[in-house]
Amino acid sequence: MALHETRTIQLKNGDSIIMRPALVSEAEALLTAFLEILPTSPYILSTAESAARKTVETQMKWITDANEDPKGALIIAEHQGRIIGITNMVAFKDSKRSHRAGLGMSVHHDYRGQGLGEALLRRLIEVAQNIEGLSFLELNVMSANQPAFKLYEKLGFQQVGYLREAYRQPDGVFTDDISMSLDLRARPS
Ligand SMILES: CC(C)(COP(=O)(O)OP(=O)(O)OC[C@H]1O[C@@H](n2cnc3c(N)ncnc32)[C@H](O)[C@@H]1OP(=O)(O)O)[C@@H](O)C(=O)NCCC(=O)NCCS
Repeated sequence: MALHETRTIQLKNGDSIIMRPALVSEAEALLTAFLEILPTSPYILSTAESAARKTVETQMKWITDANEDPKGALIIAEHQGRIIGITNMVAFKDSKRSHRAGLGMSVHHDYRGQGLGEALLRRLIEVAQNIEGLSFLELNVMSANQPAFKLYEKLGFQQVGYLREAYRQPDGVFTDDISMSLDLRARPS
């Protein structure tokens, strides 16, 4: 990750939140955070079941890889010693697509609607804009996930693709996929 600073932000409810890169020593806390967040996040690919199969070792490797990757980042949001938000990005490794990085993000349900998702994403964009050779930040969002879609739109991501019935939920209901992209070069830093 290019920038390592810690940032403190104030949520709408006054909570003071720290945003910073994750530490390898926080692998277990990160896993706990995912296990807490996933049951209320039906529109992300990981499920509580798939997260339960992850180990502290796999999380340690994930954090190490992100921190050592010059075109990657893993940023956590911390409140009173607890991880309550996560965002990350990873660039394609092949040379023809290495100017494009995909992102993921999630906020603990107790902290949603307070401006944390927006603050995390703004920070990730700022980090991405300072990485040489990175031109696009991209993501896929389920069409039913309006909070996320609206957030990405608000921060300037444009819809670049649409795939019908790309996802099937456990109850059998299909959801479409929206591809979105942010041109990092076009955005004022
Ligand atoms: C998507 C998510 C990260 C948003 O985080 P958040 O902290 O609740 O969002 P914020 O409070 O920062 O809101 C920022 C903007 O997002 C949009 N937004 C957030 N919640 C919304 C809602 N319930 N309905 C519509 N828009 C919403 C709005 O544009 C909002 O801006 P505004 O306050 O000016 O209206 C959060 O809902 C989440 O973690 N969801 C589960 C995991 C997930 O789906 N991740 C995305 C996978 S693609």
